[in-house]
Amino acid sequence: MIIAVDGPAASGKGTLASGLARHYGLPHLDTGLLYRAVGRAVSAREDQPGFEDAAIAAARALDASHLADVAELTSARSGVLASKVAVIGPVRAALFDYQRNFATQPGGAVLDGRDIGTNICPDADVKLFIQADSKARMERRARQLESRGVEVDRYALYHQIEERDARDMANPNGGFYKADDAHLLDTTLLDIEAALRAAIAIVETTMAHKARL
Ligand code: CDP
Ligand code: CDP
Repeated sequence: MIIAVDGPAASGKGTLASGLARHYGLPHLDTGLLYRAVGRAVSAREDQPGFEDAAIAAARALDASHLADVAELTSARSGVLASKVAVIGPVRAALFDYQRNFATQPGGAVLDGRDIGTNICPDADVKLFIQADSKARMERRARQLESRGVEVDRYALYHQIEERDARDMANPNGGFYKADDAHLLDTTLLDIEAALRAAIAIVETTMAHKARL
């Protein structure tokens, strides 16, 4: 069973994907980490000539199965860098095979990101598109960072998330939109457990429906 989980920044898709993976005993890939690792590798060249070529080279050289310091990759700065390399077509192409192979391993997998249901796994058994309003997403990300001891400027964070969402949605190479056959799950008013229960209910209903076909 392949489960695709997409959604905007801090919508809770990673937490949900890892909960689903645990529930169904499947491996989980947070595909955002791949873009974050590429962004991090070229951070010194941000907004300079040669940034694109350097990002393409970094994506081609990335050893996705051995990502460096995940704590550093999940910083807000890495998120911005990730969204800047994610608009480069050859970067996305270089990261495609790793994601596709992960998804199609025997037994299945859960992947979360922006284009799983549209580009990486258009054939996924279940597609979820996670949404939550921007203020709730900002507050969740703020608390997540604060729990790691990072000082947060909520105003700046809100704008940074909005800017990143806008860049992602305008990405000409990205496919960041809800797939027609994806189930929309709004988690604005749901805590983590309630969101997971709702997602499991969608998976169960979808699989039961498929079994009847
Ligand atoms: O992967 P994504 O950026 O979409 O979000 P996440 O890292 O899964 O969630 C961001 C933060 O929101 C985490 O600290 C989660 O624990 C929290 N969260 C929440 O408070 N309520 C939810 N329904 C889902 C996540
Ligand atoms: O957790 P959060 O949603 O804040 O970010 P992420 O999932 O780690 O993704 C970081 C950035 O990588 C996104 O803003 C996108 O620009 C890019 N990304 C992408 O283009 N395609 C994916 N499948 C995953 C991430």
